Amino acid sequence: MLFRFLTRAMDAQGVWTKPLGDLAHRFLFWLFQGLPGIRDLLVGRWLGHPPHAVLTDAPIGILFLVIVFDVIDDPGAAAITLAVGILAMLAAALAGFADYADTDGKARERATLHSSLMLLALVGYLVSLAFRLGSGPVASAAGVWLSVLSFLVLSAAAYVGGDVVYVLGNMVSRHAFRGAGTKWIALEPAEAASGEIPEGRPIKGKLGVNTLVLVRQGERVLALHETCAHAGGPLSEGKLVDGGIIECPWHFSRYRLADGHVVRGPSVYDQPAYEVRRREGGGWEARRQA
Ligand code: FES
Repeated sequence: MLFRFLTRAMDAQGVWTKPLGDLAHRFLFWLFQGLPGIRDLLVGRWLGHPPHAVLTDAPIGILFLVIVFDVIDDPGAAAITLAVGILAMLAAALAGFADYADTDGKARERATLHSSLMLLALVGYLVSLAFRLGSGPVASAAGVWLSVLSFLVLSAAAYVGGDVVYVLGNMVSRHAFRGAGTKWIALEPAEAASGEIPEGRPIKGKLGVNTLVLVRQGERVLALHETCAHAGGPLSEGKLVDGGIIECPWHFSRYRLADGHVVRGPSVYDQPAYEVRRREGGGWEARRQA
């Protein structure tokens, strides 16, 4: 099967994508943690999902047009289109690096392969453009063939990028398949045998098959799903910020406890929020907020 062969081929690149990815990640993580506003803009907190997917469509379409213009023998249009395609590649890369800054494990290795191939294609296109701007039939033929070759590399890179999202689930909401559920269910706080919830400190609680993070503020109990929507971090191990916000311990996304609204990335998804109330006869019960 083709995909098994491709998966084995991608896995075999781990000998260099892992160390290179760890190194690049260290730098990008440091860079984007220091620029949270720019990181949030690039990962798409304002959009509700990463703009990288949209931005990658543009260069692929534009750079395919270069081949079309070469086939119909319009070198001027091909060169202008190529220059625009290169600019579109750079914009897509910027958004991609912001996603990459908070990518771990196997997805990071794959994303390293994806970005390395994209960089290779970008270099190919830059050299192709230089040849096209030169003079003589040899230079222009070299420019044409180099852009065809670069398009093949670009397509391979796009395939690997698809693997990062669709197979490894990177930047996909961890709650994509969670049902709404409107019934009140008994809530079991994890710590106190008495069922009480300590004040002002996150703890875990069980609500049927779901695990929640609970924070009590006086008589009010705020609850979100325990699993961070970004990449599955345990929110009960995070810290409270300004009383009403919880910060994930893995990549420091922040969610408003009252409604699960994401207030800082790299998460771009809201966190499922729950209503909690005292139960008749003692204890607590909860249900997912509408
Ligand atoms: S898992 Fe990445 S911020 Fe929570």
